[in-house]
Amino acid sequence: MIWPILLLFLQLSIAHPFHPERSTPLPVIRQLCEFPNVTWIENIAVRSNGLLLVTLFTSPSLYQIDPFQANPVPTLVASFPSALGILGIAEIEKDVFAITKGNFSRFTGLVTPKSWSVWKADFRAQENTDTGGAVVVSKIADLPEAMFLNGATTVGGGEKGGIKFLLMADSILGVVWRLNLDTLQYDPVLNVTATQPTVPVAQGGFGVNGVHTRDGFLGM
Ligand SMILES: *[C@@H]1O[C@H](CO)[C@@H](O)[C@H](O)[C@H]1NC(C)=O
Ligand SMILES: *[C@@H]1O[C@H](CO)[C@@H](O)[C@H](O)[C@H]1NC(C)=O
Ligand SMILES: *[C@@H]1O[C@H](CO)[C@@H](O)[C@H](O)[C@H]1NC(C)=O
Repeated sequence: MIWPILLLFLQLSIAHPFHPERSTPLPVIRQLCEFPNVTWIENIAVRSNGLLLVTLFTSPSLYQIDPFQANPVPTLVASFPSALGILGIAEIEKDVFAITKGNFSRFTGLVTPKSWSVWKADFRAQENTDTGGAVVVSKIADLPEAMFLNGATTVGGGEKGGIKFLLMADSILGVVWRLNLDTLQYDPVLNVTATQPTVPVAQGGFGVNGVHTRDGFLGM
């Protein structure tokens, strides 16, 4: 979701899942860390080890935060070349995250056509001390037709195998793009009233923003 936030909060405890009949305690909320002004945190992903990854819209930077620490310091784990910011993030294989990036100035509102692409941050090498444990950043595909690749999620694959797609909200074109991660072919898979901006983009309109899939459904 596009939202200018400076602070990052974490819901630490939720109702016990096995006793739904008990009264639901309120979640405990605490501030994990604070980024310097002006920072726009765009999206968040949770790694299988519980560490948080946040994408920054105000710089092409991916930060990792350890929510198990009392006062975690965000660590820059990956930087992406020639872009003003990164936006969507979705895990496409264990410890491999797809990330959307492009040029949109949050200060001028100008978007650069043909600047949008999907990249990959591979954390598997982190376990490999021989390589120094660096996160490997590489490009998956350019999407020159896209205008604002925002939230991202995956569909397909899993236990049954098959093709895994990356779905990406395009908030300016008002469509959801589908990228086949095997063939790297892509198309606008959803282009309906609900994905389009309600007012023209020139008047501040903004279409589909965050996307998530679950049990064969797409939430947006
Ligand atoms: C952050 O910086 C912006 C731009 O310089 C300024 O307008 C805003 O008041 C600042 N916010 C805080 C909380 O310091
Ligand atoms: C996007 O912005 C970066 C950083 O300013 C710049 O290096 C790059 O050339 C821009 N890309 C396009 C397609 O304009
Ligand atoms: C979405 O649908 C509209 C209306 O049919 C069309 O004009 C537009 O080109 C479509 N967008 C894309 C990216 O296909």
